[in-house]
Amino acid sequence: MKYKKTNHRLGTNVVHVGQEPDPSTGAVVPPIYMTSTYKQEGVNKHKGFDYGRTRNPNRDNLEQCIACLEDAKYGLAYSSGMAALDNVIQSLLCKDSYMLVCDDVYGGTFRLLDKSFKKWGLVFDFIDMGNLELVDEKLWLNQYKNNITLMESPTNPLLKIIDINEISRIAAKYGSIVVVDNTFATPYFQKPLNLGADVVVHSTTKYINGHSTVIGGAVALNRKDLYNEFEDYRELKFNQNALGAIPSPFDCWLMRENIKTFPLRMEKHQKNAFKIAEFLSSHPKIKKVIYPGLNSHPQHELAKKQMYGFGGMVSFDIGSFRAADKFLKKIKLFTLAESLGGVESLIEHPAKMTHASIPKEIREKNGITDGLIRASVGIEDAEDLIEDLERALNS
Ligand SMILES: Cc1ncc(COP(=O)(O)O)c(C=O)c1O
Repeated sequence: MKYKKTNHRLGTNVVHVGQEPDPSTGAVVPPIYMTSTYKQEGVNKHKGFDYGRTRNPNRDNLEQCIACLEDAKYGLAYSSGMAALDNVIQSLLCKDSYMLVCDDVYGGTFRLLDKSFKKWGLVFDFIDMGNLELVDEKLWLNQYKNNITLMESPTNPLLKIIDINEISRIAAKYGSIVVVDNTFATPYFQKPLNLGADVVVHSTTKYINGHSTVIGGAVALNRKDLYNEFEDYRELKFNQNALGAIPSPFDCWLMRENIKTFPLRMEKHQKNAFKIAEFLSSHPKIKKVIYPGLNSHPQHELAKKQMYGFGGMVSFDIGSFRAADKFLKKIKLFTLAESLGGVESLIEHPAKMTHASIPKEIREKNGITDGLIRASVGIEDAEDLIEDLERALNS
C-alpha cells in the first residue's frame, strides 16, 4: 500500500496513521473487515476492493503504518517474516541469480536459501560483511547476474553490526539490490532505507507486534520499480497477491493496535537490556556478553553512528552446553522459548533452538557456541529480571 507522508512525528503517527474514526458509526478504533470478498455493483465495478487476498482495509491500514515507521513510500504485509523474505527473493531473482548474504542470519533464513532456493539454481555466498573488500570482490564477480545483497544488523544471534551505508555504496556500483532484515533493530532504532538500502524486511512477529500474539511479516521500500502497481510479474506488489501469503484481517487489525505503543515499548526494552548487559558483564560465571550498547562490543562505534539506540537483545556465553542447560532450567521470569520482541522476557539456546537448522560446523565457525544464550529482554521491572538471572546463575 502506498503511504502519503504526514507532517507529524513517529509517536503521533503510530497512534493516528490510518486510524480515522469509522465514518458509518464513529467507532474510534477501526472495525475488523473479516470478509473474503466484496459485492460488485457491476462487473469489475467496485470500491477498490474485490477479493480479500488482493486487498483488505485492515491490511491497507497496517501497510501504511509499516511504511510510515520505515520512512518509506510503500509497505506490504505478509503472513510471516519468512513469507516476506520468500516474496522478496521470488520477486527480484530468477534461476541462476546470485545472493550475497551475511554469515550470521536467522536459522530459518539460512534454511530457506539452503534448502528451498538452492534447488532452483540460486547461487549464494554467506560471508562476514565486516570485510568490505570481500563484499566488493564477491559483488564484482557476480555483477552480470540478477543480484541481491541481504543482511541483518544487528545479526541474529551474535548481534554483529554491519555497515549498511558502506555495503549499500558498494552494492550500488554493481547493481545489487540491498535488502536489510531490520527485525532486531526495528525502525525505532535504525532506518535502513535512509542508510542506502533498497528494501527492508521484517518479522513483525517480533517487536513490531510486540505481544507474542501474531506471526507476521512486512516489507518497506521507496523504489517504485520494485514495488510497482502495474502488475509486472517481477514486482513485489504483484507477487504479494500472486503467491498469496497474506495475513488475516484480524492479525492486521491486532498488529496495528499493538503498534500504537511501539515507541514506548522500545524505550523500555532498551533501558532494561542495558541494565542486564551490565549485570551479566560483572558476573563471574559469564564468559562473554554481547550487546551493541557496551563499549566492549567490537562495532560499538558503528552502532552509535548508524543506530538511534541499541535495542533489547542481549546474547551471552556461559561456557558450555551443560552450564547453559542448567541455567535455562532454573530461570523463571524469562520464559525459555523461541522468538523475541514481546513485552515478556524470553530466553533461548540458539545452537539447539533457533539456529539448529544451520550445520554444526558452520555454526561453530561463525561463533554460535554451545554455551551461547540469547535473551530478548522484556518490559518488566529490570530489578526483578536481574534477581531472576542472579538466582538462576548462582543455584
Ligand atoms: C531476524 C529474523 N528474520 C526473520 C525471521 C522469520 O520470521 P517469522 O518467524 O515471522 O517467519 C525471524 C524469526 O525468528 C528472525 O529472527
